[in-house]
This record gives sequence, structure tokens and C-alpha cells, in this order.
Amino acid sequence: MGVVEFEDVFVKYETYTGSVLALRGITFSLGEGETILVVGPSGSGKTTLLRVILGLVQPMHGTVRVFGMEPRDGKTGLEIRRRIGYLTQEGKMIPELTVWENIIFYAKGRGRKVDENRVRELARELNVEAVLNKHPNQLSGGELKRAELLMVLSDEPELLLLDEPTSMLDAENSKVVIDLLSTFKGSVPMIVTSHDPRLVEVSNRILEVTGGVVRKPEGTAPLSLKDGRPKEDDA
Ligand SMILES: Nc1ncnc2c1ncn2[C@@H]1O[C@H](COP(=O)(O)OP(=O)(O)OP(=O)(O)O)[C@@H](O)[C@H]1O
Ligand SMILES: [Mg+2]
Repeated sequence: MGVVEFEDVFVKYETYTGSVLALRGITFSLGEGETILVVGPSGSGKTTLLRVILGLVQPMHGTVRVFGMEPRDGKTGLEIRRRIGYLTQEGKMIPELTVWENIIFYAKGRGRKVDENRVRELARELNVEAVLNKHPNQLSGGELKRAELLMVLSDEPELLLLDEPTSMLDAENSKVVIDLLSTFKGSVPMIVTSHDPRLVEVSNRILEVTGGVVRKPEGTAPLSLKDGRPKEDDA
């Protein structure tokens, strides 16, 4: 059994102006120690896929298993989120707290205590030691991104979901992040979304998502809609 398993997953968002079918029949599985790089154009459903794993978005069709559990009801959703390190695209640090206080608060919320030495070691590797006592709004975009990553990595996650970990970073700091993620490769399963081709280095497999569908390798038959699955015009 994989750490994450998707079987024919459809997700629909309702908005005032209509609905959007963001995922249309996604099937894949992530094995222990594996890293999948999710690529695809803006709006293709990459972040949605991560949010389904976290139980923040419920599929309208299909099955999802994370650590063997279904991220549906509140309790399993919480349990699953506690075990996952999720780097969001937009960041989630609390502005009133310093980076260091954010890290402690984050761990506390997950029922853990911070290993100060480990955090300092990771901070050094991510080149953010100097910003630990600053507030998030006093950081540059790239510093904030690395500080957010530090927070997520410092809590010994069993699964990492990293949404565009190198966006906002210059070449040098992208390399810092990629090198650090390489040290997690093989021991912590990861799903990483990115437009950055350098992240191929840390991945075992690439999942190409276009318009909510996994693009099949060339030469294979296109996905067909089975009976009982949502159709395009349901959206
Ligand atoms: N909360 C929401 N409500 C309504 N529609 C949404 C919501 N979140 C995402 N969408 C829509 O679902 C589709 C997929 O969005 P998603 O954020 O998953 O794309 P993405 O691949 O992560 O894009 P990007 O590369 O720009 O981050 C888009 O059409 C988007 O507009
Ligand atoms: Mg996204």
C-alpha cells in the first residue's frame, strides 16, 4: 500500500459564477521513500491535488487514502495533517510572531516540542539563521519562503507536500533548497509541485497534470470516461 493513493479522483469547486472541475479522474500512488514532482500549467490542479491529500478539499468522486486513512471526517483529517509537512504557496506564518516563535507555535499545535539543535542546523543549511528573531513581514520573499520551509521541515514530517518550494528564490538559494531536499529524498516521501525543472533532481517520478488530468505518456490511449463518473457538462 502506498503512502498516498488516488483512484479516479474528481474535484469540483463551486463559485458564484459557476463551477470548476479542477481534477478529472486522477489516479496515482506515492510509495514509501518516493518523491513525485507534479508539473503543469497554472490552474491545472496541482495545489488542489495537495489540498485533497490534506483533507482540505473533498472529492466529488473517487477514493483517496493517506497513510491508509480516508481524509474525510474531521478527526482523520486532523490526524493526517498532523503527520504531514505542508509548504503552502502563499505562506502560513503568523505575522505577530517571530520566525522562531512561529516554529514553536507550529510544533505545539501538532502536539510536539521543538528540537532546538535540529532547527538551528536546518536554519544554517537554509541560510536563514539570521532571520529567526525577525517577524515574517521583515523578511524578503526569498527569506520568507526558506523560513516557511524551515518550519515545515523542523517538525519531523512523515510526508512532505511542497507547493512550489523554489518560487521567489534566486539561483543560489534554489540550489540551497534543492540540496537540502535531496538529503530528505528516500527517507521522507514527498510530493513537490513546481515549474522549476531543477527539481527533477530530487524526484523519482514526474506527474504531468493538464486541465485536471494526468497526461499519459505518448503512445497510450487517452483517458476514457467510465459510466458513473462525472462528465464534463456536470461542471
Ligand atoms: N477555492 C477555489 N474556488 C474555486 N475555484 C478554485 C479554487 N481553488 C482553485 N480553483 C480553480 O481550480 C483550478 C485549479 O487550481 P489550482 O490552484 O489547483 O491550480 P495550480 O495548478 O496549483 O495553479 P498554479 O500553478 O497557478 O499554482 C483553477 O481553475 C482555479 O481557478
Ligand atoms: Mg498552485
